[in-house]
Amino acid sequence: SGVSMEKLVSLCKRRGFVYPSSEIYGGLSATWDYGPLGVELKKNIQEIWWKEMTRTQDNIVGLDAAIMMHPKTWEASGHVANFSDPLVDCKKCKTRFREDKLEQQYVDNKECPECGGELTEPRNFNLMFSTQMGAVEDSSMKVYLRPETAQGIFVNFKNVVDTSRVKIPFGIAQVGKAFRNEITTKNFIFRTCEFEQMEMQFFVKPGTDEKWFEYWMEARKAYYTEKLGVRPTHLQFHRHGEGELAFYAKDAFDIEYKFPFGWEELEGIHSRTDYDLSQHSKFCGKEINYLDQETNEWYIPYVIETSAGLTRSVLIALTDAYEEETIGVDKKGNPDVRTVLHFHPDVAPVKVAVLPLVKKDGIDELAKSIEKELREDYNTFYDQSGAIGKRYRRMDEIGTPFCITVDYDSKEDDSVTLRFRDSMEQVRVKRSELSARIKLEMKN
Ligand code: GAP
Repeated sequence: SGVSMEKLVSLCKRRGFVYPSSEIYGGLSATWDYGPLGVELKKNIQEIWWKEMTRTQDNIVGLDAAIMMHPKTWEASGHVANFSDPLVDCKKCKTRFREDKLEQQYVDNKECPECGGELTEPRNFNLMFSTQMGAVEDSSMKVYLRPETAQGIFVNFKNVVDTSRVKIPFGIAQVGKAFRNEITTKNFIFRTCEFEQMEMQFFVKPGTDEKWFEYWMEARKAYYTEKLGVRPTHLQFHRHGEGELAFYAKDAFDIEYKFPFGWEELEGIHSRTDYDLSQHSKFCGKEINYLDQETNEWYIPYVIETSAGLTRSVLIALTDAYEEETIGVDKKGNPDVRTVLHFHPDVAPVKVAVLPLVKKDGIDELAKSIEKELREDYNTFYDQSGAIGKRYRRMDEIGTPFCITVDYDSKEDDSVTLRFRDSMEQVRVKRSELSARIKLEMKN
């Protein structure tokens, strides 16, 4: 879609999807708060992922580990030594850049792309946030806010094996906050210092890792179009070359999305071998391995990881859904344009709006009682103010897939009008069949 970021940010603010954080104090750079519609949207995406990656799988279980972990975790994982960006500063305009993101000519000439000034030598800047745990300054411990959720899964590998009857190949899935002291944070919620990840570590027998890597690559590709409803033309796939791999990866595959600012990563699938489990075993001094009961052999499993951004998925859902659609001409003969978010029904923050045609003669009461009934099954919204056309437009703009209009006839025939967001078609439906009909339409 041709949506500009300005338009999207403005719609998000205006309709209560995303606000700048602590805005009354002037905001804090690159931090955002999710408003009433944003929180529903984010929860829906999280639920779709959770259902796809745990509930409907035979062999994947969930976990919710703490954000703060023993500091040795990050020495073992390699993040203390390796999780850094090479930074350069402009001596003249003081702008800071990641050297690896600069065009080669600027790196070669040590030249600032903004003002032409001279750049400093690169310095490695670790991306982990740290804080102190413990009341007394001297004896307090430096702890990190996790930069990925994955390590919470690795350190719990033994716990899960010992307590949940999983057998290799199996996975552990987790959704949660992660933190990185990012330098380039423009582009709204795309890259922020505080964000949410949806990760799954799939533990396999060494030697079967390549097969499972291919499997998850295909499975994760399909998820975006089928489950989130993303347009296939807005997705592309990129397998990493040797020089591109992260320090923990043997093979990696990015799922990229066509954002208004270009193609960027949305999810990474990584072949992490036994790197993490071996490292933790070394650092904690205990065996972390697995007894294969079929062959009676012990081994350290290999890991295929699928790592998606939740907050980044919210941005994709919004960008992908946005359309300014011309739907005829208005009374003055000008093009009549509606802004509509074509969310997949499962993704949409509000599923059903209930709109009484008038707010008198018992029509409003009837509408309210219908809305109450539907609440049990769907996130609903009741709106009785303004012309009906305006109310439809307000619902189109937040991506509500179904509107129900209650009119005078409804009192007589016990039926309502069901209006579809995308086609704007309307059908008459019996009140008693409404919930089931919506359920059916959600699947189409
Ligand atoms: N455990 C592997 C890992 O963390 P990653 O490629 O660094 O891999 C995975 O991150 C995903 O997390 C990315 O594809 C992106 O969707 C999301 N992500 C990473 N950094 C982010 C940030 N600063 N803001 C928002 N999302 C981010």
